[in-house]
Amino acid sequence: FEVNWDAEAAERGGYEHFMIKEIYEQPKAIRETMTGRLAKDDSGVIFDELNWTKEYVASIRKVAIVACGTAYHAGMVGKYLIEKLTRIPVEVDVASEFRYRSPLVDEHTLTVIISQSGETLDTLAGLKEAKKQGSRVLAVTNVVGSSIAREADHVIYTWAGPEIAVASTKAYTTQLIVMALLSVYMGGLKGTIPPETSKELCHGLKNLPAQAHELLEDVEAIKTFAEQYGFNEDVFFIGRSLDYAVALEGSLKLKEISYIHAEAYSAGELKHGTLALIIEGIPVIALATQLDVYEKMLSNIKEVKARDAVVIGIGFKGDTEIDKYVDHTIFIPATNKYLTPILSVIPLQLLAYYAAVTRGCDVDKPRNLAKSVTVE
Ligand code: G6P
Repeated sequence: FEVNWDAEAAERGGYEHFMIKEIYEQPKAIRETMTGRLAKDDSGVIFDELNWTKEYVASIRKVAIVACGTAYHAGMVGKYLIEKLTRIPVEVDVASEFRYRSPLVDEHTLTVIISQSGETLDTLAGLKEAKKQGSRVLAVTNVVGSSIAREADHVIYTWAGPEIAVASTKAYTTQLIVMALLSVYMGGLKGTIPPETSKELCHGLKNLPAQAHELLEDVEAIKTFAEQYGFNEDVFFIGRSLDYAVALEGSLKLKEISYIHAEAYSAGELKHGTLALIIEGIPVIALATQLDVYEKMLSNIKEVKARDAVVIGIGFKGDTEIDKYVDHTIFIPATNKYLTPILSVIPLQLLAYYAAVTRGCDVDKPRNLAKSVTVE
């Protein structure tokens, strides 16, 4: 009698890969990251771990966000949210650039370090550089007691649970939750968000776990697109505003695990070069969830369609307009405009996953990549 027990398979809990398991853990991870941080009456955000005063937030002249990889993309979303909701200027840098460019940070700067592992060497070095220049440092990390958590002045933990797959999924969406919570928290203290907006955002945040769950219930169409287009060697992602930040993460996911050459462009930049690469049959994933730039985005979709690209649109449920101009549409549930990245990235994660599976790639351990990069 032989016991054939595969510890790793047991950990995967019935899923074929850690990545897909982690994609499906997002509703729970999102919920846990918000637990205890939303006021019961939806009036605002509570961060007991920060306990900042109005005076402190009023003294912040600049926010500098520093991170690598997927965490950097969460920082890009953070920039849009913090600037819109607090009116404080925000810079976002990849850590390996920040640390060597004599960054202009001082005691009036809040440096926000984002790192799932809390151990990325460049990110840790960026943290140390910011501290040396006198900046206060807030770490957003998933690992309790990690080097970055220990070195920072303040820590906000993402409660995503352990992330095993090299390609980050639930860590990213929970980093986005923290970016949204932090913007509402700081905007509340600074008086830059009207109470109704704060309420709407809190309400929107509370709905996200159920909406993420709803998205994950019906993945057949995405699977089909991945099988259909998984053998293309080039894919483009386009979007404007927050959709552009999500496009960057969507293209990184696809590159990392399926080895398809993917590029993300802010849709307005297409005509400054990229359009030359759009030829018949090239898949273009077009995100169109930002209503204030919706018409502009539709014109960009028409531009790529006119070059015979195959366009997959990402739009809100009930949007009948986008369907007229694209080949296929993936609909996401309606939410507050600032919260759309948390939902719109999910189909992109699934697309990358199923494309990688279609191509027979080693999804959880892509070639040349590591989960945590602790070397230069
Ligand atoms: C590696 C991982 C990425 C991750 C990046 C930053 O490249 O493969 O998934 O986004 O490091 O990691 P961190 O732990 O600092 O968020």
